[in-house]
Amino acid sequence: MQKKVDIEDLNSIRSESNFKDYSHIKIGNNVQYLFLPRSMSDLVLIFDFASKNKLAIFPIGGGSNVLLGNVKNRVLFLDRKLPKICEINSDEVLVSANYNINSLILKLKKSNLGGLEFLATIPAHIGGIIKMNAGAFGKNISEYLKWIKVLNKKGEIEIIQKEKIEFSYRKSSIIDYILKAAFKLEIKSEEEIDSQINKFRRIREKTQPINFPNLGCIFKNPKGESAGKIIDECGLKGEKFGDAEISQKHANFIINKGNACFDDVKNLIKLIQAKVHAKTGIELELEITVLN
Ligand code: EPU
Repeated sequence: MQKKVDIEDLNSIRSESNFKDYSHIKIGNNVQYLFLPRSMSDLVLIFDFASKNKLAIFPIGGGSNVLLGNVKNRVLFLDRKLPKICEINSDEVLVSANYNINSLILKLKKSNLGGLEFLATIPAHIGGIIKMNAGAFGKNISEYLKWIKVLNKKGEIEIIQKEKIEFSYRKSSIIDYILKAAFKLEIKSEEEIDSQINKFRRIREKTQPINFPNLGCIFKNPKGESAGKIIDECGLKGEKFGDAEISQKHANFIINKGNACFDDVKNLIKLIQAKVHAKTGIELELEITVLN
């Protein structure tokens, strides 16, 4: 008979901090089961605990585009303490899912490898970027992907070739936990890469509120349209609940101007969806993950 995994078995990797300490928008509550695994065996233990206790499992990567309330009866884990690897071989790189995209772009630059600069300044880890097929300026991460190594729900490790994954706008068919990914890159000079990074950074600084804690774009763009433009045209810029405010720079961003809480952001999201629907008939779909 299989031994039941108890919460005591996971005490050494259980987070005692409020999620706020990890969240990019600086909002968080006391999440019942939040773990910081340090190794593959810690991960297997977490998966076992979730499965034996029939709890849903939510990997939250670096925590940059999740909004968490008082989450109970779900198993969440952050990847920051897992080993980080980045192995470059000719024009390919094998990288762990917990690698920060900006650190990766700078590391690749030193080997004259580029392509991913369009993602510069996004505060995200590789795993989350692949799972949601993050993109900007007309490019998506899937264009550079070769394969991923995952831990599936049965606790087995598997390699999945890119051709077996369906990618679309901000979406992938990946359901397993990504451990590592291999990318094929473009050979570029350091100067060329720097100039690309600076170009994208300048555009973001000009058009997005990157100097305030935020969650990235809140909503997906409806086909052929910009959610930010639609929200702006509904006159919602500057609307606020507590310290959460719809950015004056880009209406698809909610910023934390101090002590915003989960309900403040949730209320703004509901307000945007209701006003946009009433005015245009469009149902805006969340790009971020909200759990409560
Ligand atoms: N616009 C407005 N008002 C606003 C915001 C935008 O009128 O408040 C207008 C802009 O002037 C522009 C158009 O809407 O004419 C499109 O705006 P933008 O270029 O900022 O692009 P977006 O569609 O709003 C998308 C991605 C961003 C990505 C940018 C740059 C989504 C949901 N958003 O924004 O991604 O950085 O393009 O490529 O796909 C994210 O995914 O978190 C994200 C921020």
